[in-house]
Amino acid sequence: MFITKATRHDVADLEGLLGPLGQQAPNPRDGAVYVARAGKLVGCLRLKEVAPGAVVIDKMAVDPQRRGEGIGGQLMQAAMNAKGGTLYLYCHADAAGFYEKFDFKPVAPDALPEPVMEHFVAAGEYPAPEGHPEHHFLTAR
Ligand SMILES: CC(C)(COP(=O)(O)OP(=O)(O)OC[C@H]1O[C@@H](n2cnc3c(N)ncnc32)[C@H](O)[C@@H]1OP(=O)(O)O)[C@@H](O)C(=O)NCCC(=O)NCCS
Repeated sequence: MFITKATRHDVADLEGLLGPLGQQAPNPRDGAVYVARAGKLVGCLRLKEVAPGAVVIDKMAVDPQRRGEGIGGQLMQAAMNAKGGTLYLYCHADAAGFYEKFDFKPVAPDALPEPVMEHFVAAGEYPAPEGHPEHHFLTAR
């Protein structure tokens, strides 16, 4: 398994990973999209600097058949090593324990930098649509 930046040739596979989670594939040119490859695409995440020093992480997914093998952790580590700045993400309560391993802590919505909040609102992720599981904003560094 190795981690690289995504290219436009990965968009269909990104859709395959993210579609079942109700998310659209990112444009590989919109931020830095990292992918884990093991013969095929088995994981992804995106880093996007929405303001100087404020970096959003989104589009995080690991192939359901390959979860629990360390792929998500390696993607996070590669992304965190690649870019400085304060990191922000918005995740459902079930996944928060994963991010806590990387020292992410909860942050209140009104404490977020405005461009970070604007990112999640524009993406249609915040506020979480009715019926979706509880979500939290988390930050690190
Ligand atoms: C969350 C997700 C990305 C984790 O990827 P993964 O490849 O299964 O995670 P890893 O195997 O690298 O796990 C790394 C560590 O986090 C822990 N971990 C993984 N998922 C966890 C969870 N949901 N809660 C708590 N800890 C978790 C693992 O036990 C492991 O701990 P260890 O280092 O002590 O052994 C993956 O489960 C996934 O794609 N879930 C569905 C999509 C999703 O929730 N995306 C996030 C949107 S907010």
